[in-house]
Amino acid sequence: MIVAIDGPAGAGKSTVARRLAERLGFRYLDTGAMYRALTWLAMNRGIALDRADDLARLAMEYPVTFDDQGRVWIAGTDVTASIRQARIDRQVPVVARHPPVREVMRERQRQLGAEGDVVIEGRDIGTVVAPNAEVKVYLNADVSVRARRRQEERPDIGGDALATDLRLRDESDAARMRPAAGAEQIDTTALQVDDVVDQIERLVRERQPA
Ligand code: CDP
Repeated sequence: MIVAIDGPAGAGKSTVARRLAERLGFRYLDTGAMYRALTWLAMNRGIALDRADDLARLAMEYPVTFDDQGRVWIAGTDVTASIRQARIDRQVPVVARHPPVREVMRERQRQLGAEGDVVIEGRDIGTVVAPNAEVKVYLNADVSVRARRRQEERPDIGGDALATDLRLRDESDAARMRPAAGAEQIDTTALQVDDVVDQIERLVRERQPA
């Protein structure tokens, strides 16, 4: 079974998806981390972020991998911590908007999801990467709550700068941010993580073959 979890930054995708995967004994795939790692590598190598074909080639040559501890690797480097920096937050959408880059990433995401029993988190999972996912969820929350959650993860960045970053990223991601047909939409503004996980777990159990 595939569980697709989409939604904007700060809606709670990562925390919910990780905890859900743990409960179900499923694997967890963070597709945002893949775009982040590619962005890190491109910046590290001085590749201009408007060069779609160069970036797609880079993505082909250096597949992102996840180890057993869930650490993120690209080109022989553990980038788990570096991909969460504000400079990466700001540039990922620039890299992720190129269709040739998305082609490479989506193909790889489908391969990683192919074995099934996986929770996949991103922006276009229910719509494009895994439209046949048995369970599709779209998480959202008020923008002020999303900014506050992100602030807790990025204590080094000022609140105003962070709110601006979030708004700019929402705008660049907007083209890909829509709920898939048949997705369960959950507003997490006033919900605890475990309440959200409970709701999704119920959907999974309903759809799991007896
Ligand atoms: O955790 P947060 O939502 O802030 O970000 P993320 O899931 O790590 O994704 C980072 C960025 O990667 C997003 O803002 C999108 O620009 C891009 N992304 C995408 O285009 N498609 C995906 N399936 C996942 C991420």
